[in-house]
Amino acid sequence: MLASGRGSNLQALLDALGPADAPGRIAVVISNRADAGALERARAARIPAAVTRGDGQDADGLLALLREHGAELVVLAGWLKQVPGSVVAAYRDRMLNVHPALLPAFGGPGMYGHRVHEAVLASGARLTGVTVHLVDEQYDHGTIIAQWPVPVRPGDTADTLAARVLAVEHWLLPAAVRAACTQIAADARVRPLCGAADAFALATNHEPSHSHALVPA
Ligand code: GRF
Repeated sequence: MLASGRGSNLQALLDALGPADAPGRIAVVISNRADAGALERARAARIPAAVTRGDGQDADGLLALLREHGAELVVLAGWLKQVPGSVVAAYRDRMLNVHPALLPAFGGPGMYGHRVHEAVLASGARLTGVTVHLVDEQYDHGTIIAQWPVPVRPGDTADTLAARVLAVEHWLLPAAVRAACTQIAADARVRPLCGAADAFALATNHEPSHSHALVPA
């Protein structure tokens, strides 16, 4: 897992992958900031935590760390650096990112954190959401694996919208990672998930029934 921020998505993954029968486990948490909350959470969970620059000059170092810990899947959550091309190539179709909007809208260079939610509010969109996608050489661009909508409500600020979106990240990312682990263990491609229950949930105003609503497309 590559995480440079507070690590709330890391915590959601730790919780989801905690059970002994989970389809995967977190091998290492890597941050480009020594003071990242994500590293604290990793240490508290007794998971190896490492700091590296993670930029283009550090591609070999990042790759060495991932290999040393036997990473088969790389998950980015709050990782702001562009992943070096050689690392993307080494983990082609094996690297996921979570983005706090419905890509391809509100993504790309400079679109991170509150900037995303401010842009959504400024656009007048009534719907935003969460996207989990494969990482390729361009920011926020690879194949979309899972998405879930989040309403924009009257009076929303970037803070209130961010909190509503983050709550969805906390179950959508673990659902996508669990599915990816299962697919990798079966030697299969990491492929898109669709929300079987989402149309029903939206139409009936029911809360979606979370991860078990997601099935391979
Ligand atoms: C999340 O909103 C994620 O979508 C974005 O960065 C934020 C990370 O939050 N890429 P956290 O560090 O997991 O709490």
